[in-house]
Amino acid sequence: MGRESYKASAPGKLMLLGEHAVLHGKLALVGAVNQKIQVKLTPRFDTKINISSEMGYFSTTLADLKVNPPFHFILSAIERQLVFINSGFDLIIKSDFSHEVGLGSSAAVTCATTAALFAWLKKEFDRQKIFDYSFASIREVQGLGSGADLAASVFGGIIAYRMKPLELQKLPGTLPITVVYSGAKEGTVKVVNVVENLRSRHPAILTTIFELMELSTRQAVAAIMNQNWHELGQLLNINQGFMDAIGVNNLILSKIIYGLRSDPGIWGSKISGAGLGDCVVGLGQLHNPGFPYTVLPLEISPDGVTID
Ligand code: PMV
Repeated sequence: MGRESYKASAPGKLMLLGEHAVLHGKLALVGAVNQKIQVKLTPRFDTKINISSEMGYFSTTLADLKVNPPFHFILSAIERQLVFINSGFDLIIKSDFSHEVGLGSSAAVTCATTAALFAWLKKEFDRQKIFDYSFASIREVQGLGSGADLAASVFGGIIAYRMKPLELQKLPGTLPITVVYSGAKEGTVKVVNVVENLRSRHPAILTTIFELMELSTRQAVAAIMNQNWHELGQLLNINQGFMDAIGVNNLILSKIIYGLRSDPGIWGSKISGAGLGDCVVGLGQLHNPGFPYTVLPLEISPDGVTID
């Protein structure tokens, strides 16, 4: 007879406002989306750990576990629970979305793996603990990261997030969004370094821009509470100006951003995430059925990580 399996799913995310500034202690807005990563854990009778996903297959043992790519986020999540683990297991990872589109696959898979381990190890399903363990893994692997993407994966919905001191407010309701993929992926760390280089040359200007980003994020929280999409759209557009100023815009993103703004169903648009690639988010629903870029079928979802 086979052993019982443990499944957990965590949603991807969309950054809405405050990217980059959030790495400097400013407030950001992030939303969970209706596409998830699922992890299925089946305990084994030996000490092998087998991981399989669309990225390939990897096998190790409890004694030999090392945190190496391409499964470094998963392996780091496992490493943090090793003291509680007595046998090996098989992990099967399935994703509704590609890791190439900037929807926070690293945070989602780290969070879902941690939750599946929690379920197997009979640990209490405590979202804050899942967040804390997963955040430590992401920081270990990536060297940086605000945890905003993780907050969306763990808690779901729309979240106003501050890294330090940790502030995590889940806002009521949802948002109408249109998400467009730019066709290219740029690594978060690389883009953060582009911004940091600019900041080292113009520290006072970048610091002021980050403060303005925080101000607009705070006003956006109020606009969401009041469901004032006209106001929120304007704040997205203003923030896009800040993203451009810190050097993370490019031609294709601009074309998508202005293409969206010319649609009567869209209140505002901006880069979502680090920039120089990935996605653009528009507030509202696109009216033009012939929009000439890749629209992803995404909505904001109230669900965070779940044990399935
Ligand atoms: O990885 P992305 O493209 O979703 O960007 C995340 C936003 C940053 O603020 C640039 C980084 C972070 O960890 O918050």
